[in-house]
Amino acid sequence: PHDPSEISEIIQRNMHLEGPLLPILHDVQAAFGYVPDAARAPIAEALNITEAELHGVISFYHDFRRKPAGARVLKICRAEACQAMGANEMSEALLAKLGLGWNETAPDGGLTVEPIYCLGLCACGPAAMIDGKVKGRVTAEALAAEVAR
Ligand code: FES
Repeated sequence: PHDPSEISEIIQRNMHLEGPLLPILHDVQAAFGYVPDAARAPIAEALNITEAELHGVISFYHDFRRKPAGARVLKICRAEACQAMGANEMSEALLAKLGLGWNETAPDGGLTVEPIYCLGLCACGPAAMIDGKVKGRVTAEALAAEVAR
């Protein structure tokens, strides 16, 4: 689902930047919805880093996906303020209900659940974002109902 010439084009257009790696990864994800494994070798080569180093960066930033996301994306805040409001228990209950783990996509491709680290709604945790819309004081029941729509 990805075109190697598009990957080289993305690399080329960012190479003049001082730190081109993150802009390249963001552009690749914007173009394909994820960072395909096939993009790794050309990026590593262009930036003169090892694929292991590149892997470290991709895994460090939670924003980069290794696989395409589902039709809908639910992001649940796992940062401290939300954790203090029971985000962990809420997430465990919801994931169990959905039969999914973090960063997993439902087998029908309908939903991906991802962690996010602060949505700026710390005062009304637990917070989540579904289809780009943020919601505060979410419960497992409400989110399950929301994603079932
Ligand atoms: Fe969850 Fe800030 S800690 S929104």
